[in-house]
Amino acid sequence: MSEQLSDFLTIDDFDVEGKTVLFRADLNSVVINGRVQMKERIEENAKTIRELSEKKAKVVILAHQGRAGGDDFLPLEQHAQLLRNFVDLRYIDDIIGPAAREGIKNLNAGEVLLLDNVRMLAEETLDKTPEEHAKSVFVRKLASLADIYINDAFSVAHRSHASVVGFPKVLDAGIGRLMERELRALERAVHSMKRPCVYVLGGAKPEEVFDIMDFALERGMDSILTTGVIGSLFLYAKGVIPLKVDKHLFESVDRARRIAERGGRRIKYPWDVAIEVDGKREEISLEEVKPNQPIYDIGEKTCEKYREIIKNAKTVIMKGPAGLYEKEAFAKGTKEIFKAISDSDAFSLLGGGHTSAAISEVGMDKREMDNVHVSLAGGAFLRYLLGKSLPGIEVLRKH
Ligand code: 3PG
Repeated sequence: MSEQLSDFLTIDDFDVEGKTVLFRADLNSVVINGRVQMKERIEENAKTIRELSEKKAKVVILAHQGRAGGDDFLPLEQHAQLLRNFVDLRYIDDIIGPAAREGIKNLNAGEVLLLDNVRMLAEETLDKTPEEHAKSVFVRKLASLADIYINDAFSVAHRSHASVVGFPKVLDAGIGRLMERELRALERAVHSMKRPCVYVLGGAKPEEVFDIMDFALERGMDSILTTGVIGSLFLYAKGVIPLKVDKHLFESVDRARRIAERGGRRIKYPWDVAIEVDGKREEISLEEVKPNQPIYDIGEKTCEKYREIIKNAKTVIMKGPAGLYEKEAFAKGTKEIFKAISDSDAFSLLGGGHTSAAISEVGMDKREMDNVHVSLAGGAFLRYLLGKSLPGIEVLRKH
């Protein structure tokens, strides 16, 4: 799937003044003890909402939080509060009922209305095609009150949900500014990438990373630098370090071995690692790793070698932190990799839920990282990296 922005209508293609715009945002955030944590998604979506409001559109925001049955499945009241830090809006705890519909009809130019969590409607998440979703009560009720549909939620584009794929079938539809930035960066890093192209893959989800590695090796890229749990798993699979591996990881070890053979010298592994001794960070060589030893970060020698490779790259794609960045002592590897990326002239794409969180947590300011795009997407980012098509994007293409 290749994304030329010219394949899509953007806000610039519409005269939104006085028009009712259904705006699909992704405000889905981490929830801790029932409190929605402020997330960049809220801030970034708010920028597009503000632009539409300044252009005198009547903006109706559709968004979700969590999944039915989960602890984080909440109404959007708190999101309304958080959004108000950036843009004035009214919140109605209704989606298609009389209160929501009256609220939409009564909007004045420039006003913004946030409706409730669209996943409260069973129709939203039914497994249906865009054409079928377009016939849902949800889509029919709201589309009849609107003129334009704008989707700014790249991070939900992998879901064939009613609010993502149904409305573009019945309304003039385009992409928002955040979606524009996401698609531009993904196109540049994945489809129009300049070589040498380097992948930096870490985190704790082996199967996701293996899929990316298989895909990347097939397409031809120059190096894959392994970090985090992934790096340790490969070292174990190659017989370099002893580890205690859970049964459920046996298959992953086999797959790692096959990928290591296939990737040969293109795949790089940590040269040293960090462990915890008496509550402190200690760096050791691979020979010193004992069986059952928990490994929490990559070591300095590894950082140096990876820095050199990143420095000479023209494109860098990073997914997953290099270590247990939540603990100050083991954030070093992740920080060093971020620093190498921001110092390099390469165009870099960073993504996956934890990567974006890690950048904030280790105290890096994304706005100071020129030439770097940090995707706010998790599942959609992963699918894109694997060359899979995203229903929420396909449906927005100009025909
Ligand atoms: C995300 O957080 O990745 C998106 O909001 C999609 O959420 P979902 O995985 O619950 O569909």
